[in-house]
Amino acid sequence: MIYAPKEGFGRTARIQSMEDYQFLYRKSLERPEEFWGEMAQALTWFHPPETVLDADTDQVDFSWFGGGRLNACYNAVDRHVKENPRKPAIIWAKNEPGQYELITWRDLKHNVGRVANVLKAHGVKKGDRVCIYLPMVPELAYTMLACARIGAVHSVVFAGFSADSLRERILDSGAQVLVTANEGPRGAKRVRTKAISDEAVEGLSQVRSVLVVRRTEADVPMKAGRDWWLDQEMSKHRGTCPVEWMAAEDPLFILYTSGSTGKPKGVMHTTGGYLVYAVTTHRYVFDLQPDDVHFCTADMGWITGHTYLLYGPLANGTTTVLFESIPTYPDAGRLWQVVDDVKATVLFTAPTALRALLREGDAYVKKSSRKSLRLLASAGEPINPEVWRWYHDVVGEGRCPVVDNWWQTETGGVLIAPMPGATPCKPGSATLPFFGVEPVLVDDEGRVLEGNGVSGNLCIARTWPGQARTLWGNHQRFIETYYSRFPRLYFTGDGCRRDEDGYYWITGRVDDVLNVSGHRLGTAEVESALVAHESVAEAAVVGFPHELKGTGVCAFVTLKPEFLDASTEQMMGALKEQVRHVIGPIATPDQVRIVSGLPKTRSGKILRRMLRKIACGETQDLGDTSTLAEPSVLDELLTQQSQMQSQRR
Ligand code: WTA
Repeated sequence: MIYAPKEGFGRTARIQSMEDYQFLYRKSLERPEEFWGEMAQALTWFHPPETVLDADTDQVDFSWFGGGRLNACYNAVDRHVKENPRKPAIIWAKNEPGQYELITWRDLKHNVGRVANVLKAHGVKKGDRVCIYLPMVPELAYTMLACARIGAVHSVVFAGFSADSLRERILDSGAQVLVTANEGPRGAKRVRTKAISDEAVEGLSQVRSVLVVRRTEADVPMKAGRDWWLDQEMSKHRGTCPVEWMAAEDPLFILYTSGSTGKPKGVMHTTGGYLVYAVTTHRYVFDLQPDDVHFCTADMGWITGHTYLLYGPLANGTTTVLFESIPTYPDAGRLWQVVDDVKATVLFTAPTALRALLREGDAYVKKSSRKSLRLLASAGEPINPEVWRWYHDVVGEGRCPVVDNWWQTETGGVLIAPMPGATPCKPGSATLPFFGVEPVLVDDEGRVLEGNGVSGNLCIARTWPGQARTLWGNHQRFIETYYSRFPRLYFTGDGCRRDEDGYYWITGRVDDVLNVSGHRLGTAEVESALVAHESVAEAAVVGFPHELKGTGVCAFVTLKPEFLDASTEQMMGALKEQVRHVIGPIATPDQVRIVSGLPKTRSGKILRRMLRKIACGETQDLGDTSTLAEPSVLDELLTQQSQMQSQRR
């Protein structure tokens, strides 16, 4: 079933027809410098770029907008204060329903200026890294923009990560200042951000100052000389702070994400290219209109928060909604209530949230009006066609285009998405490439698959402005991770099908990365967390289809001899808790299967493919089992699997 573009929508849309899209798309590939040079004019430059692109693909060295100088904070804040001082820049929807705070562009500038001065007073200089571990509070936006203002590099860590994860990221980035909160209300819970921060920086002389946002009344221990209340610090400073004019290629931020090998990767984005890409994609993919109220439910700890909650909308002068709570608090009607309260025109959320809400039935949706909405967007994981249709038919009442957009932390912004006023949609397909993006499908041997009706590994053939330039402090790892599997091509790690009409269908990760509720998780990370437990001898982690999370986490574990007598029930609980503690709640395994051995080849390689099939319940077709060193291991796994299945029935 194909959904044609909405008639009324197309009349005011930025891209009104497939001809318009194709014309611009062709131009973006044939004359990229002209195309991106024009797009760059949407920003205010202190010094305009002298060149558009300087790429050395062999060295994996890309430079966009060379010679240009600009400031991301100036673009997101100052220039809109001049035009629209009283317009809300941010609508903060607090955790409790019905509680909102409006932050105008003028307020925003003052608060950002104050925080910038505080950071400077705590010794932060251009190029220094600042780690931010905050719930969804306005100070989070102020601090990110304050860093950008003075040329510091922010590294936001999702406030659901554990102390160990936070510490690892602080160490890797070399941040000397950490910004956190006494605690963060989130639904019915409170995240103990300060306590977790304390544990993370314990004994780390690298961290000079911890700035603490006072979000609640909670009293937390403050370490003299290290910990400072941010509100008190802000009151000592003026709201004006000069901007630092940055080179286009200067880093704007680092954002850690999971890969197929152990340690998280510090993905580095630039000031000029990233910002040009953020404003351009925000304008076309969400069909930006002057009075938009842009409601992106992503947490700032992920790339979607950075690009489509903060930088894209603000740099485009759009009011953006900062949502502190969760879609199911206090009930499954919350998101629709916020949409009505703030009169959101664009709603951007993730399939995992939609699946959870769909399950609660339509009544929650229908209680709200939703008449302000004109566009619905989804990203982070493949959207199931039935969820797409529910979003379209029930949430949008058939009026609003659904924009399923595909991209990654490393891509900075959307790479594949429909043009909402022009592209006919097929539920489950992110449709067609954005301007300047050249997707290529290759088989496992690296042969390019031409034409339509093919499936393979999704790569991108040329650079685009929003592309991450490197991994923090480790360019070699950047090259190995993205440019070595298929030489001269950026490898996304995703599998993909290009159908008969040239539409792209992402089929999921082809590497050892799991997409759990839209969060990226490396199986190796979870395995390391498990093996760090005193009882575990070996662990192998695989994904399996999960109704709500998209992918669930299944851990196969063997125990050390001295723990073999422990109760299975208790052991499973302890191991789930272990992962929760080491990485964070998002990584908690859904299943822990304690076994006496893992299936291995004679050379000792774990047969993950086999484990994946077993976890998915596909026990009929396990492939070649003759390579197994210990065939009895398989019998045990299969017996366990059939027991689990019969229990579920
Ligand atoms: C997956 C999130 C299908 C994909 C923006 C990708 C998607 C990973 C989609 C990146 C989509 C993201 N359809 N799959 N619309 N969007 N993905 O870095 O596997 O958190 O590689 O960036 O999410 O996740 P990340």
